Amino acid sequence: SKLHELLTALPKVEQHLHIEGTLEPSLLFSLAAKNNISLPSNDVDPVYQTTQTLLARYQRFTSLDDFLHYYYLGMSVLITADDFETLAWQYFTKAAGQNVRHAEVFFDPQAHISRGVPYDVVVEGLLAAKKRARDELALTVEYIVCILRHLPLPDSEALVDTVLSRGHFADGTLAGFGMVSSEKDFPPHLFREIYARVGATGTRLTSHVGEEVGPEFVREALAQLNVERVDHGLASARDADLLKQLAASETLLTFCPWSNVVLCNLPRLEDAPVRVFLDARVRFSLNSDDPAYFGAYIQDVFCKVQDTFDLSVADWEWIVGGAIEASWCGQDRKLALR
Ligand code: HPA
Ligand code: ZN
Repeated sequence: SKLHELLTALPKVEQHLHIEGTLEPSLLFSLAAKNNISLPSNDVDPVYQTTQTLLARYQRFTSLDDFLHYYYLGMSVLITADDFETLAWQYFTKAAGQNVRHAEVFFDPQAHISRGVPYDVVVEGLLAAKKRARDELALTVEYIVCILRHLPLPDSEALVDTVLSRGHFADGTLAGFGMVSSEKDFPPHLFREIYARVGATGTRLTSHVGEEVGPEFVREALAQLNVERVDHGLASARDADLLKQLAASETLLTFCPWSNVVLCNLPRLEDAPVRVFLDARVRFSLNSDDPAYFGAYIQDVFCKVQDTFDLSVADWEWIVGGAIEASWCGQDRKLALR
């Protein structure tokens, strides 16, 4: 339809994207071979046999934790700075091809450090790709470092020590701080002190919350962690008072409705609270989350939402305009994105 063409041409910002979630099976297998990484293939169910068996498994995730199992396994093929640069560069070229002009990208150092890949190696590769994206694609990139909720808190504190020792919040190497992984057993208040410590550096704060748990976790993250943005925030739709608070404070939800369907946090895309957020004037962006695992990059997500909700041009302008306004880039860049 006409609107699909408009949505393709529309300059986009992506604000909820895990770089490790852009690891396509083809790159996964080629890096595994290069780095001599053996993936579990003696399963009764031979998931890592071929691209086809792997993609078939990706098509039947049953929950966030079921996905995270394959997500953490997959990224074990990433070893050198070059590997991280290749991963990020592949995503940036794809995103630029879909008219993404600015990307705010999560990464999970703890998942690499725990395998013996140093923080500095990860960052070196990601920064090289970021520079190429700006120079060759006119795509601006900001990185958001994430702690892993399911690991012992001292592990996350050690990562924060490393980031602070490098001065990476103070010098703008990293634009923000977030929190990911399993949600159910890890209420936000457990992370109050670490958020206070990072927040004192002046860096931006966000957290994955309200993905598989209810609106009470979104409230808790806002009240206790001082996040200025909420990643997912799906469950906010079930709480009218919270919606009012989000609208009044112009808090951005980095919404990933297709991810929510694939991980069974929503029965169908039709059940996504797109209209709820629009009607409540809650700011939200539409994002892909882990596109190599969920089978949809940002363009596909936009088109799926349009096919399902038949939004107007004014709706799209409001969504994308709000996303640009809430971007973690300078005012000059925001003006250029409009
Ligand atoms: N939720 C929590 N942790 C994650 C996700 C997600 O959607 N993607 C990658 N890590
Ligand atoms: Zn996510």
